[in-house]
Parts: sequence; structure tokens; C-alpha cells
Amino acid sequence: MHQAKELEDRLVRHWTPMRAAIEASLDRYSSEVEGCPPRLGEAIRYSLLAPGKRFRPLLVLLSCQATGGQWSAALPIACAVEMVHAYSLVHDDLPAMDDDDLRRGRPTCHRAYDEATAILVGDSLQMLAMEVLTAELPPAMAARCCHILAVAAGRSRLVGGQADDLAAEGRYGALPLTSEDEKFAFLRAIHLRKTAALIEASAELGGVASDAPLDHVNRLKEYGKNIGLAFQIVDDCLDIDGLVDQLGKRTGKDRTAGKLTFPSLIGLERSRAMARELVDAAIATISPLGERAAALVDLANFIVSRTS
Ligand code: IPE
Ligand code: IPE
Ligand code: MG
Ligand code: MG
Ligand code: MG
Repeated sequence: MHQAKELEDRLVRHWTPMRAAIEASLDRYSSEVEGCPPRLGEAIRYSLLAPGKRFRPLLVLLSCQATGGQWSAALPIACAVEMVHAYSLVHDDLPAMDDDDLRRGRPTCHRAYDEATAILVGDSLQMLAMEVLTAELPPAMAARCCHILAVAAGRSRLVGGQADDLAAEGRYGALPLTSEDEKFAFLRAIHLRKTAALIEASAELGGVASDAPLDHVNRLKEYGKNIGLAFQIVDDCLDIDGLVDQLGKRTGKDRTAGKLTFPSLIGLERSRAMARELVDAAIATISPLGERAAALVDLANFIVSRTS
């Protein structure tokens, strides 16, 4: 517990300037624009500027820093990733998806506004991410970042994982998964796509922003993939033993919905041990990056100790 507190203090110190810059940039990029209906513009800001952890944009900035880049130069990329993430939450909460009423400590977008607005907020946030990348970065860098983000958030990755997440709930008829091993493999593939893909892309994008050598970018990708999988395993655990006040979202909903999750398959204890192993593997992968990557080690450790 003491160690967890020390880690949190160190992270807060290290992250404060980055977080402030992320918040200011998100605010600026989502400011009023001619032609955007006021209600839609307000709903976009309601969802995007809500108090999230900003885990993915921080990961972009820290990965850039860990490979020798100036983190401030990666701010447009960090914000674009957060926009895609915020969209995925707004749509994930819709009645046709997870049907949630609380997000980031506030009513979900479709509850605060209405379903059509929430769908349009998601649509807008995806395009705003592309707009920011192409407006703020040199053309070659913008094209590379758009490609990485589009693939990570696309039909075979984030969206594909979300579709299979619903399939595993029995939304598209029964899945032909008979053995525990088959279920485990299917669930791992869901989590690698619906959550880890964007986290992996965040780490990769940080390396791309600093023009890091390919070996370092590949290490960041591997690190991102492993902490991304751990992130969703811990999310599944917190749905069982987390606190609504700290999480800012409801708990117990995975069980009610009959979702396939790690704790439902292998139990809480083994799930947390698996998350720990993944985080340790991620930390080992980036060790050749040296002292500059110390904050990435803290970030990885945060995943297993987090309560929000
Ligand atoms: C929630 O992500 C959705 C998952 C992929 C588990 P976060 O836990 O990063 O949510 P915010 O951004 O802090 O609200
Ligand atoms: C969400 O997973 C993954 C996304 C791509 C948004 P969950 O459905 O478990 O996320 P929460 O628990 O609602 O935040
Ligand atoms: Mg979901
Ligand atoms: Mg959900
Ligand atoms: Mg969850």
C-alpha cells in the first residue's frame, strides 16, 4: 500500500505539467467553430473534457520523451488519441452497446443529451482527431500518424474487438466456444483489440513523434500491447471489486450483462496475477531504453495498482 502511494506521488509530480498541457490543448481543439450546432458542440466538450485519467495521451507523451523527443511536439498526437478514446467510450455506453448511465463521474452522453447526439458526438470526435493531426503536423508525419490511429481504431482492432465483445455476450447468437481454452483465447483476442490496440498505438505514436529508431518503436509497441492487455484485465477486476466513487462508473455491470471477462473465466486472483506478469514483461521490453524510460515503468506499474 505504502509503495502504491509512493508511486502515485511520483506520477502526480511527473505528470502534472503534461496533464495540464493535454487539458489545455483538448480545450483549444474542441472550442466553438462556425457551423457546429451549439448543442452538439457542448456535448462534444461534455464528453471530451470530462475528468478522465488521460492515460493514453500521457503514454504518447512519455513514449516520445523516453525515446529522446520533445514531448510538447507530440501534443496534437496525444490529443487525437484521447479524442478517439473518448468517442469509443461515448459509443460503448450507448443503449445498443453496454447501456451505461454513468461515465467519468457524470451521466453518460446519451443520458445528459440524447442518443442521436451521443452518436453524433462519437462521429465528430473521430473526425476531429484526423483534423487535428492533419492541421498540426508536417504532412508526412500526419499521414503516418493518421494511418497508425486509423488501423488501431478500425474494424479489425478496436471496433472489431467491440463487436466480438458483444458476440461473447450472446448478442449475435451463441458462439461455438466449448472448451475453457477456446474461451480464454477468444477473450484474449477481444481485449487485445478493443483496448490494447489503442494503447499499443499510443506508445508507438510517441516513438514515431520522436523519430525513434525502428527497434525502439517496436519495443514501445510490444510494451503497449502488454500493458494494454493488463489494463483491460484490471478494468474487468475493478468492475467486481472497485468503488463507484473512485471509478466514476458503475460496477457489477459485466456480470449482469453476462460478459466474458478474465475474472469470470479464471477468477480475480489469477486475473490480477496475469496483469502483473504482463506489466513485468512490458517493463523488461523497454529496459534497453534506459533511464529516460523510468516514467514508462511507473506508468506500467500504475496499471496494476490503480483504483480508478
Ligand atoms: C475505460 O478507459 C475503457 C477501457 C478501455 C477499459 P479508461 O479507464 O482509460 O477511462 P478514462 O479515460 O479514465 O475515463
Ligand atoms: C471498453 O471496455 C472498451 C472500449 C473500447 C471503450 P468496457 O466496456 O469494459 O469499458 P467500461 O468498463 O465501460 O469503461
Ligand atoms: Mg464495453
Ligand atoms: Mg462498457
Ligand atoms: Mg469495463
